[in-house]
Order: sequence, then structure tokens, then C-alpha cells
Amino acid sequence: MSPYAHITGWGTAIPERVLTNAELAKMVDTSDEWIVSRTGIRERRIASEEQTSASLAAEAALAALQVAGLKPADVDLIIVSTSSPEHTFPATACLVQDRIGANNAGAFDLSAACSGFIFGLHLASQSIRTGDIRNAIVIGTETLSRLVDWKDRNTCILFGDGAGAFVLQAAEEPAGILTGVMRSDGSGADLLSLPAGGSRHPISQKVLDAGLHYIQMNGREVFRFAARVMNQATEEVIQKAGLKLDDIQWIIPHQANLRIIEAAARGLKYPMERCVINLDRYGNTSTASIPLATVEAIQDGRLKAGDQVVFVGFGAGLTWGAVLVKWSGPFATRRQKIHPAYVRFLARLRSVLLRVLRRLDTAIWGRVSHIDE
Ligand code: UT7
Repeated sequence: MSPYAHITGWGTAIPERVLTNAELAKMVDTSDEWIVSRTGIRERRIASEEQTSASLAAEAALAALQVAGLKPADVDLIIVSTSSPEHTFPATACLVQDRIGANNAGAFDLSAACSGFIFGLHLASQSIRTGDIRNAIVIGTETLSRLVDWKDRNTCILFGDGAGAFVLQAAEEPAGILTGVMRSDGSGADLLSLPAGGSRHPISQKVLDAGLHYIQMNGREVFRFAARVMNQATEEVIQKAGLKLDDIQWIIPHQANLRIIEAAARGLKYPMERCVINLDRYGNTSTASIPLATVEAIQDGRLKAGDQVVFVGFGAGLTWGAVLVKWSGPFATRRQKIHPAYVRFLARLRSVLLRVLRRLDTAIWGRVSHIDE
């Protein structure tokens, strides 16, 4: 029987700096009243200068490994879904792999905007279900504050920074990630984008003058699309799992706008009290929003082992999707204690040694032509 992918660990990294609506109202022509009534957002977190998408991701990943009781060397796969990668390449996931010393893991980034965490969970679960790997980390991490135009009131009020991670582990018991759906519609690519920095619009003075290095969004159109697909994906994933809406204890939606979530709940005839919401305190953290909300629901005792949960989201691309999870929690056996500070130190040491060895290797063996001989 093919194993199931259980979610056995979770962690977050939340920047300390809080940016309130009142502060934003001093920066652009907006008000706390407008932002709360149109979005439900009251404040968001902003990464410090030292914090990056990789550093937040590594912190969340180590916290998740601690809960799961796994060592970094046990990890076979790291998927980082992010809308604010550190670079076009290398992948932020590789930087995370190095920072946590996961020396047996393959690591790559997944670009599906705010649906990225859901796509990542689904793909990692498929890898576990085939028996190819046993342990994976899926991370959503963002420093979107560096990509928004702080003079554009249409976007700067929405986004926030943070990271969340899940550890997925193989087990025979039928629980964990039961199924998922992933959908895309590139005809809506222009509705939400960050045009510059890729090969289409390499950075130039002209590009900077046009502000193409900032997030651009047609809010109304994205809203209409989101309200439609949230229900569609939820119904589809429940049907695919052979369940009914009544079987679902929690819906944990992408935290973009309270009105979108309310519209989806109304459309489904699902009680709002069963939708986990924390966007009032974090804003839209894109790929990180679902794990951040989930960890909060675990910590305050709402989400319990045996609960059936739908994670559902949408984003740029356009993309949307959902996964259905029977919540289990950490395995009782094979638990190891890890100390994040110690693990970070060892990973750093390993990384420095590898760099020194690479330099020595080059110094001794010199040019590439020697390899051919
Ligand atoms: O992860 C996916 C990310 N994106 C989203 O989820 C975005 C989805 N869309 C939305 O959340 C909403 O469309 C927004 C919150 C962005 C905007 O809310 P809305 O109710 O769709 O407002 P609107 O765009 O229709 O604008 C209404 C008015 C406009 O003024 P006029 O033309 O009626 O005079 C805007 O210029 O509100 C104005 N406005 C603002 N006023 C105060 C737009 N942004 C602001 C603002 N403060 N920050």
C-alpha cells in the first residue's frame, strides 16, 4: 500500500515590527476605517533589514523539524513556495537547505504566487505517496514589503511579511494529505504581477522609472476571480476525497481579504466560525498565509488530531487550488530532540567548510581542462 503524507511538524517566523493602518494613513491617502471595512486588515508585520525570505524560511523550517522530532539530515525534499524569492536564481530553497544543513535534501522553489503553499503540499505529498521519499518540508515565505510601492495605496495596505513551514512524513495509516486540486489560467496573468526583474523586463533605468519592479494589481478583477474559485476548489477537493462539506471541521483559506472569505463561506453555506482567520494581524502574506493561520489554530487548540481540513487559496498566475487533510500531528515514535541554535551553528560550519574545500579543490586542480584529461 502506498504511504500517506502526514503533517507532523509546523513552525512560523514572524517579524517583530508591526505596521498599523494608522501608520499607513500617514504614508498614503487612506484610513484605518477604509482598510478595515474593505479588507479586514488592521496591521501587518515587516521584516527587519537582516531578515530575508531565506532566513525567515529557515527559522520556520527548524521550528517545524523540532515539532516533528526530525533532524535536518532526515529531510529528503525542501519545497519553498514564495512570491518574493531572494533571487531569480539560485532558488531560495537551496539557501534554506544550506542554512539548516539538510545535506540529503533536494531543494527547489515553486512559483505559483499565493497558491504556492497548496501546490507545494500537493506535490510533496505525491512524492511521498509514490514511495520515492519519506520526509519533506514545505515552506511559504515572504518579504513582500520589499516589493510593494509604498506610495501605491491599492497594494501597500494589503501585504505583509512572514513564513510558515510544515513537515510531511510518510506513514501507512490513511490520514494526512488525502487529495488536492491545482488549477491555473494564464489569460489573467496581467491582473496581478511583478513585471520586472525577469528576462522580459530586465532591470534598467526605464523599467525603474515606470515602476515595473513593484507589484501591480487590478484589485477588483482579482477579487471577482477569487470569490468564484475559492468555492469551486473547495467543492472539487471535497468531492475528489469522496467526502461532504459536513465532514469538514475547518476551512483554512488564503488570507487575502475578509470579504473574499465571507463571500466564499456564504456561497458554500459554511459557517464563518469554522473558517480560520488571522489576516487582521498579518495582512496578506501570500504563500505564508495558510501555514501562519494553521499554526495559530493548532496553538489555540482549535485544530485537533482527526479533524478534516480544507486548505484553499488563489493567487497571481492566475492560480488556485485546495488540499484536503485529515489532521494527525507528530508521530509518537522515532522522535529526536533538535536545538535550532545548535543546528544553525553546525549548518553554518558545514557551509563554510564546503566553500573552503571548493576553493582548495580549484587551487589544486586548477582549470576545467584537467577534468577532461
Ligand atoms: O493574494 C491575492 C492578492 N490580491 C487580492 O486578494 C486583491 C483582491 N482585491 C481586493 O482585496 C480589493 O479589490 C481591494 C481591497 C484591493 C480594493 O477594494 P475594493 O472594494 O475592490 O475597492 P475599489 O478598487 O473598487 O476602489 C474603491 C475606491 C476607489 O475610489 P473611487 O474610484 O471609487 O473614487 C479607489 O480609488 O476606493 C479607492 N481606494 C482607496 N481608498 C482609500 C483604493 N485603495 C484605497 C485605499 N484607501 N487604500
